[in-house]
Parts: sequence; structure tokens; C-alpha cells
Amino acid sequence: MSVEVPGVADAAALRAALGGWRARGERVALVPTMGNLHAGHFSLLDLARNHAARVVVSVFVNPTQFGPGEDFSRYPRTLAEDRAGLARHGCDLLFAPAVETMYPLGLDAAVRVHVPGLSEVLEGAQRPGHFDGVATVVARLFNLVQPDVAVFGRKDYQQFLVLQRMVRDLAWPIELLTAPIVREPDGLAMSSRNRYLDADQRARASVIHATLGRMRESLVAGAPYGEVEAAACSQLEDAGLACEYAVVRNARDLSLPTDAAPRVALIAARLGSTRLIDNLEV
Ligand code: PAF
Repeated sequence: MSVEVPGVADAAALRAALGGWRARGERVALVPTMGNLHAGHFSLLDLARNHAARVVVSVFVNPTQFGPGEDFSRYPRTLAEDRAGLARHGCDLLFAPAVETMYPLGLDAAVRVHVPGLSEVLEGAQRPGHFDGVATVVARLFNLVQPDVAVFGRKDYQQFLVLQRMVRDLAWPIELLTAPIVREPDGLAMSSRNRYLDADQRARASVIHATLGRMRESLVAGAPYGEVEAAACSQLEDAGLACEYAVVRNARDLSLPTDAAPRVALIAARLGSTRLIDNLEV
């Protein structure tokens, strides 16, 4: 028997739902998502449940983090299935707001949050404005839900660093957690965008994870960064992917790597019109 997850769509209903928990002193976790939930999202929910008595999941396809020509209009919206999955994974409340709830003044007049530096490199360079949209919507979600804990996936590695900096700089008393990437059996990181791939592209997409593995091996063997990055891009291109970047960076702030600090290998590649990202800590 599956129990319906209570859902709210506006700020007043959200406040009412949270009020009772707060009055009882229960810790609240937020898992922000854009829906089309898969095992990767459910692992965030499981982690959230270990850190809070109550788990709120938000489902909102945020228009401000998509650039012109990106996949905002075709991004999969599967709220009924998401709701059934959330019931199976012990979510206490679904917050699925309309655009007007998240951006009451309209998109153009909305106050924006910008995290300088980190927002401009790698994903930020390929997708100008993307992280302003992410920081802005997450700031709004944090103000609406006022969670004690928020959980994000490590596949969006740079996103986590941007949000961590935002939370620290704005002194929000929110603990941010990340959960490991959940992968398909062939290594492809789970992503809502995988469903855009046709069978041939899907078969080739596993090269991204394989390439990250080779990058890590080469780094451990002491190969120079430039060589590791060039070889990775060639490996992706040989498999028919367009390499946007395949780089090694300082894992804490994405600055250029040194052997002394923890490092992370990051890839963004295109298969046809589908853009996929992945990473591996070294
Ligand atoms: O990672 C995502 O799904 C989104 O960027 C987020 C954090 C839910 C903001 O829209």
C-alpha cells in the first residue's frame, strides 16, 4: 500500500505544513530538485532522512537557470510519477510551486543572487548566467522552507561549491550535504537528461565515466595535467562525443590543481544536442 505524499504549492500552505514540525523542535531537511526523479535523487532523500526528522522535497523546473536555446521547455516534467516515488522513499512533504510563487515579481524584476568567481568558470563559462539562476532559486527555496539541512547530488560538483559559498557568505545556518553520484551499471551517471539519448548515443555515453577513470589513473601515475586533459578530450572525441571540457582542478575551489591539494576531474561533453556532465574526485 502506498501512502500519498502531502503536497503544497504556495508559501502559506508550506508555512502551515512546516509550523507543526518546528513547534515540536523537529529538524527539517530540504532536497531541492527539478523533478523527473531517479535513483540519484532518491539517494539524496535517504541521506536527508538520516539527518532530519522531516524531509521536504521541492520539484521546480527553474526557468532562470536555463540559457536561451537550452532545454527548459522540453525538460521532463513527471510530477505524478515523482510523487509515487517520493511516497516509497519516505518524503514528508512535496513542495511543487508555480513560477509565480517562486518569482512573484516576474522573472525580469526578480532579485538575483550572484556568487562571483566560481560561477564564471567551467559550467559557468559554457552556460553564462546558469549559476545565478541556481543560486537565486536555491536562496528562495531556503528562505521559504528554512531547512536545517539541504542535500545536493555530487554530479553537479560545481553547483555544490557555488551553493556552499553562498550559504557561508550569507551566514545561513543551514548544513549542506552531498551524496555520491549514482551510476548505471555501465558507469553513466544518472541524470534526467539521459532520457534524451537514442540507443546509439546511450551506448556511447559510458565513455564519459571510463575517461574519468583513466584521468584518475594517469594522475595517480604522475602524468602532467595538460597531457591528462588532452588525452581525455581525444578519448571522448574518438567515441563520437563533442568534448566541451575535460579538466583537472583543485577539488575545493576549482582553481588550477597542485599535487598537494585534493583534485577533481570534471567532464562536460555533448552527444548530439544532449549535454552531459560528470566528475571523479582523485
Ligand atoms: O540540481 C538541480 O536539480 C537544480 O540545479 C536545483 C539545485 C534543484 C536548482 O534548481
